[in-house]
Amino acid sequence: MGEVDPAFIQDTEHRPKLSIIEAEGIPLIDLSPLNSPDYICDPKAIEVLVREISNACKNWGFFQVINHGVPLEKSKKIETAARKFFAQPPEEKRKIRRDEKCVVGYYDTEHTKNVRDWKEVFDFLVKEPTLVPSSTEPDDKEETQWFNQWPENPPELREVMEDYSQEVEKLSLKLMGLIALSLGLPEDRFKGYFKDQTSFVRLNHYPPCPSPELALGVGRHKDGGALTVLAQDEVGGLEVKRKTDGEWIRVRPTPNAYIINVGDIIQVWSNDKYESVEHRVMVNLEKERFSIPFFLNPAHYTQVKPLEELTNKQNPAKYRPYSWGKFLTLRKLSNFKKLKAENIQIYHFKVSEEAN
Ligand code: OGA
Ligand code: NI
Repeated sequence: MGEVDPAFIQDTEHRPKLSIIEAEGIPLIDLSPLNSPDYICDPKAIEVLVREISNACKNWGFFQVINHGVPLEKSKKIETAARKFFAQPPEEKRKIRRDEKCVVGYYDTEHTKNVRDWKEVFDFLVKEPTLVPSSTEPDDKEETQWFNQWPENPPELREVMEDYSQEVEKLSLKLMGLIALSLGLPEDRFKGYFKDQTSFVRLNHYPPCPSPELALGVGRHKDGGALTVLAQDEVGGLEVKRKTDGEWIRVRPTPNAYIINVGDIIQVWSNDKYESVEHRVMVNLEKERFSIPFFLNPAHYTQVKPLEELTNKQNPAKYRPYSWGKFLTLRKLSNFKKLKAENIQIYHFKVSEEAN
């Protein structure tokens, strides 16, 4: 992408500090008890697992998983296809550029307002079509459908991505089961929310950056959905804000592991017991980097609110209900329109302290 254009330069608050702490990482959790071939699970092992998940969600909001059951060749195939796709000339990739009508597809930052991230992206919806509200107006109950856009090349991209997303979807739902257990809920407590899911998979490409101290691959943010399952290559660059002291901690790549993080919806469902944690991506002078997040999102008609089982007089709901579909479409459309208001955030639905 050449020189760092002033438009990419992040303001002082967003600018990466050079001292990154690499000493202690996010927890690493072995999921093999979930994947025993004969499905005979050792209840003790599951109990230990649930405790590990609970601690990781409470203390970090982030963890890595190994022995997760997603076949290695499926991750390799999607990474190879992603490299082929991004290696094409910009004119080719821009043929499937996302716009207001079709909010998924390719984009590079040059064509996206408000975004100063040093990256290019290809998004695809896990369910086709994906049902969403037809407008962001709160009272409009109409629905519409979103469809995917596929590039001509590489021709295998579609099959490889569909195959991959099915595997990672299974993993993400198993993790939601463990998270439910860790909150003292039945394992299938969250299942119904994902029947008409609005999940999507993103291919991220971070090209080498001539002045990595001025730009970020992705500026600090929290993920708005329920759960994110991220594959990253061996380059590294993801940093997580440590809850204990606010330091940025680099997530060192672990071969064949996924990085899992709690999104805003779990924060609301759990009434702040599990918080969605800020993270960002550093860029690199020499190396390009690829990463593939799977964003697990509920059906658009989900009214997101603290679960009744987890609230009571002593611990009243900290959020007012909000429509996930309206939230999602507002976020997606804000990529194309310069909206006056800031990007929608869950704290806009926070019940004020005085009200309690
Ligand atoms: C994201 C994200 C991290 C990464 O796309 O939301 O946080 O390592 N990506 O690419
Ligand atoms: Ni993120």
